[in-house]
Amino acid sequence: MASFYERHILPHVIGCACGARPIQRQRAKIVPKASGQVLELGIGGGLNLAFYDPARVASVTGVDPSEGLRQIAEVAPRPAGLRVDVLEGEAENLPFDAASFDTIVCTFTLCSVRSPQAALAEALRVLRPDGQFLFSEHGLSPDPKIQRWQRGIEPFWTPVAGGCHLTRPVAGSITAAGFSRAARHLLAEQRQGRTARL
Ligand SMILES: C[S@@+](CC[C@H](N)C(=O)[O-])C[C@H]1O[C@@H](n2cnc3c(N)ncnc32)[C@H](O)[C@@H]1O
Repeated sequence: MASFYERHILPHVIGCACGARPIQRQRAKIVPKASGQVLELGIGGGLNLAFYDPARVASVTGVDPSEGLRQIAEVAPRPAGLRVDVLEGEAENLPFDAASFDTIVCTFTLCSVRSPQAALAEALRVLRPDGQFLFSEHGLSPDPKIQRWQRGIEPFWTPVAGGCHLTRPVAGSITAAGFSRAARHLLAEQRQGRTARL
């Protein structure tokens, strides 16, 4: 069961940190590219909602395990006419059929999920073969000096920051997950019981 801190304080801490101006600028770069049926992994307080283009997006479905953050997302600002559903759920075990979404949006979530690999495998499963995976994440720095700093503060940071990890090799995990067009074509063929060569 979630603690008092997790239920009542953490959602506001995350809301403040994730609403910082440089992070909002990152959202503005990627979220307007979303189209069709959109899934957000770890929707948090719904800070991306304001950036969707309702002319391109049919619906946004957001999953998140935090009740406190889902409540904030329910009332977060968004463009008129944007259809939004916020569901309890975890990225590692998505309650959707294969190939259900045109776009998956994942912003500052892979640091906090239990298993980035499992979350990315699920994202790949529910994404249509011609869909797009839009992300903005943070992870282990390529700079050894910054890595030392990240490793030093992570044990104190993770418990107070909702499970956020500073040293995950996120870029490598996303690359390895197989989101390239060729890899998804192969996956689609395999699902249909056909064999295909890249
Ligand atoms: C740093 S916040 C980012 C929230 C949001 N994506 C944003 O851009 O503002 C991390 C989010 O991941 C969510 N989260 C933690 N574990 C998760 C999981 N297993 N599956 C999906 N979301 C998860 C947290 O509840 C939180 O909302």
